[in-house]
Amino acid sequence: MSWNAVVGALDSHRGDLSRYLREGGSTLFREERDLLGELEGRYLVHLQCNSGGDSISLARLGATVTGVDISDEAVSSARDLARKTGVRITFERADVYDWLQKASREGRRFDVAFASYGVICWLPDLRGWAGGIAGILNPGGRFVLVDFHPAADIFDRDWNHVHDYPSGGEPLLLDAGVGDYVAASNEGLTPAGFVDGVRDFENSASCHLFRWGLGEVVTALAEAGLRITALREYPYANGERKFTRMRELREKRMVPPEDVPQIPLMYGIRAEKS
Ligand SMILES: C[S@@+](CC[C@H](N)C(=O)[O-])C[C@H]1O[C@@H](n2cnc3c(N)ncnc32)[C@H](O)[C@@H]1O
Repeated sequence: MSWNAVVGALDSHRGDLSRYLREGGSTLFREERDLLGELEGRYLVHLQCNSGGDSISLARLGATVTGVDISDEAVSSARDLARKTGVRITFERADVYDWLQKASREGRRFDVAFASYGVICWLPDLRGWAGGIAGILNPGGRFVLVDFHPAADIFDRDWNHVHDYPSGGEPLLLDAGVGDYVAASNEGLTPAGFVDGVRDFENSASCHLFRWGLGEVVTALAEAGLRITALREYPYANGERKFTRMRELREKRMVPPEDVPQIPLMYGIRAEKS
């Protein structure tokens, strides 16, 4: 599986993350903090949590956190990080669709569901996903999503407009599999300091992405009965250098070079259950 293959390479660049977290550091960015609001005493599920840095940062804000991810390697790395950081979190290895259905059936309910930075593109069915999230939220609970903007997917790495705007969950085969985006982003995604780690990683497992437009994400959440209370578009991408010649502004905000007009590179949604 492509995610299992890449986790070691991604983690190899993150430096002493447990020490950084233990000493009060956070891997969260301002945008998700603003959308999430107060977390003290809340039950929170972090969907597609990867290696758990954000899950631990959320727990440090007072939430009781359950992290869910399909990758055995990511979950094992997340458990290890939580143990070294001394934070109690439950990490569950599961496909997000199976997990949402099972949790709902078992009557598990959460005040907050959260997912961020490279999650929608792995989902083949937005309706099932959004319905599943609505099914595990308490009345008054909220879902927060921060992800890369599909508008950015019309460009190749050199900012040439070469692709259609994503729609319909069109599958896209990535022969090269999940890449080492932490290495490609240099210091952008390593708040504890960048370490060289694994060099020139090549993934032997291919994977499929699913191309969705922003309207489809919002519509799926609305049709699941969630009330959209915020939809924010940001003209920068936090941490990730997806394109060449990106410029870095404060707080690790990556923006296009000066000769490329501004477009939204990231969006955030808050949706609430009545
Ligand atoms: C780019 S990462 C998300 C980044 C993450 N928020 C973080 O803090 O590092 C995408 C994650 O989605 C997970 N994933 C992909 N498909 C999934 C599925 N069907 N169910 C659960 N997790 C999935 C991958 O294993 C991977 O860890």
